[in-house]
Amino acid sequence: MKKLIVMIILSLLLIAACQSEEGDGEKRTVGIAMPTQSSERWVDDGNNMVDMFEDLGYETNLQYAEDVVENQLSQIENMITQGVDILVIASIDGEALTDVLDQAQNLDIPVIAYDRLIMNHEHVSYYATFDNFQVGVLQGEYIEEQLALDESEESYNIELFAGSPDDNNAYFFWDGAMSVLQPYIDEGKLIVRSGQTDFSQGATLRWSGSEAQERMDNLLSAHYSDEDIDVVYSPFDGISLGIVSSLKAVGYGTDSRPLPLITGQDAERSSIRSIVEGEQTQTIFKDTRLLAEQAVEMARAVIENEEPEVNDTETYDNNEKIVPSYLIEPVSVDIDNYEEVLIESGYYDEDEIH
Ligand code: GAL
Repeated sequence: MKKLIVMIILSLLLIAACQSEEGDGEKRTVGIAMPTQSSERWVDDGNNMVDMFEDLGYETNLQYAEDVVENQLSQIENMITQGVDILVIASIDGEALTDVLDQAQNLDIPVIAYDRLIMNHEHVSYYATFDNFQVGVLQGEYIEEQLALDESEESYNIELFAGSPDDNNAYFFWDGAMSVLQPYIDEGKLIVRSGQTDFSQGATLRWSGSEAQERMDNLLSAHYSDEDIDVVYSPFDGISLGIVSSLKAVGYGTDSRPLPLITGQDAERSSIRSIVEGEQTQTIFKDTRLLAEQAVEMARAVIENEEPEVNDTETYDNNEKIVPSYLIEPVSVDIDNYEEVLIESGYYDEDEIH
């Protein structure tokens, strides 16, 4: 009996070991294309995936393109030429990958879209992301709750920032936030003094903090010389910090002239520090460990010819197909819950924040 159990265990171990190898004993390789290291989250995403793939016995080729589309295209082409077994891509411009996806399709290399949807191509096998509309809803609801907009008769000055127009997620965040804020704008409880209420007017190419800072400088000098601004809707931490700098440069951030309520997203270390210092107000925590776990499991299943688990087959239409997706729930974070959500959960060490 003992012998039998030992033999069963040994053969299970052998099967597990073979899973990450091709027939000739070569290890399988995963190409991971990430947008930029300039934002901490993508560094965490990349590292998490490498660790998890390696634990499963896969080799990885992780590349960052520093937000230059051509870099990302040539990195992916190189991965294809080197014969990776699968690609996991967080695109810079979701509409720029048609040619490389043609190449991957011709060689039967499956593609998983990571966090950002890849548009206009049928060869996107699966999509691992967060509930992006819900991210916007949480940001909008935070503003609604903090200002008690549904009960109060007060009105507040707000300006609106959107993400990068070449990133499909940016539209989801905006639409989610506006689903909460638009009625208050229509009612006059939220006043956009610049009149810039369209996505295109608030858009921030490549999510650039310095571009957002410049736009905020212009908004403040053109529309807020006689009245203060109370709220800034920002979709991403990098943008929020640009906005904080702009506001501080003209004297906000004192007892007599406090900073406005400023939202954000990604719970990056620098923004949590800013929240602790009373500057940025809120962010959205998207646990990159869970996202990486999901993408790695999807990739493993695809390589093994299994069906990966998905929980959404309706929302993410990339103009060629509805891409089967797994959506993770985002969590709103501010000064009141950052310790519990980010530190007690082990996501960050206390000394990374203080
Ligand atoms: C989006 C992503 C956000 C944020 C932003 C800027 O695609 O969903 O979480 O990271 O890019 O990097």
